Amino acid sequence: MADSKPLQTMDHHLNLLLTAEEIATIVKKLADRISRDYAEKELLLVCILKGAFMFLSDLVRHLKIPVKIDFVRLASYGAGMKTSGRIEITKDIELPIEGKDVLIVEDIIDSGYTLRFLKDRIIHSNPHSVKICALLDKKARREVEMEVDYPGIDVEDVFIVGYGIDFNENYRHLPEIYYVTPIHHSEG
Ligand code: IMP
Ligand code: MG
Repeated sequence: MADSKPLQTMDHHLNLLLTAEEIATIVKKLADRISRDYAEKELLLVCILKGAFMFLSDLVRHLKIPVKIDFVRLASYGAGMKTSGRIEITKDIELPIEGKDVLIVEDIIDSGYTLRFLKDRIIHSNPHSVKICALLDKKARREVEMEVDYPGIDVEDVFIVGYGIDFNENYRHLPEIYYVTPIHHSEG
């Protein structure tokens, strides 16, 4: 990426992947589609904390339909950059799901375990429908079958930060999206 501007940190670079403007264009398109598809429905957005908080807040500002909003927080075991299949709910959905049209709002889908777990759990509560909106999709890393109904943009197998998404709780505040690469200290 010749035109990206890496931020120097301790042991890794942040390389610009999507500018705030590029993200806004993707989010607006998703909001338009959702507004059309759910015009006559009772939409309940379920945002997965923490990573999707910024995406959710931008998305709802562009919606042209009334919605209800709830949050869920999931913990997956396996530290560092990889998710394991074991997932636990640390903050559950509070609003009633039964009969509602549920749209899960997620920052990034990788193996698919997180969304598979949450979707199956929501289905147990008898919603009218349950679909998935994910800003970023690392298709190449999928380990379980998981279809994204409202996909933002596909990304390669890189580690993403910014726009709500973290690396050990850092970088969530950044308005752009970056991918992380290690610094080779021999290069200076
Ligand atoms: P999955 O269960 O493997 O699909 O992982 C999805 C979750 O892992 C997302 O909700 C993110 O929190 C996290 N995740 C996956 N890829 C990345 C990444 O590149 N950067 C930061 N978090 C990620
Ligand atoms: Mg997440």
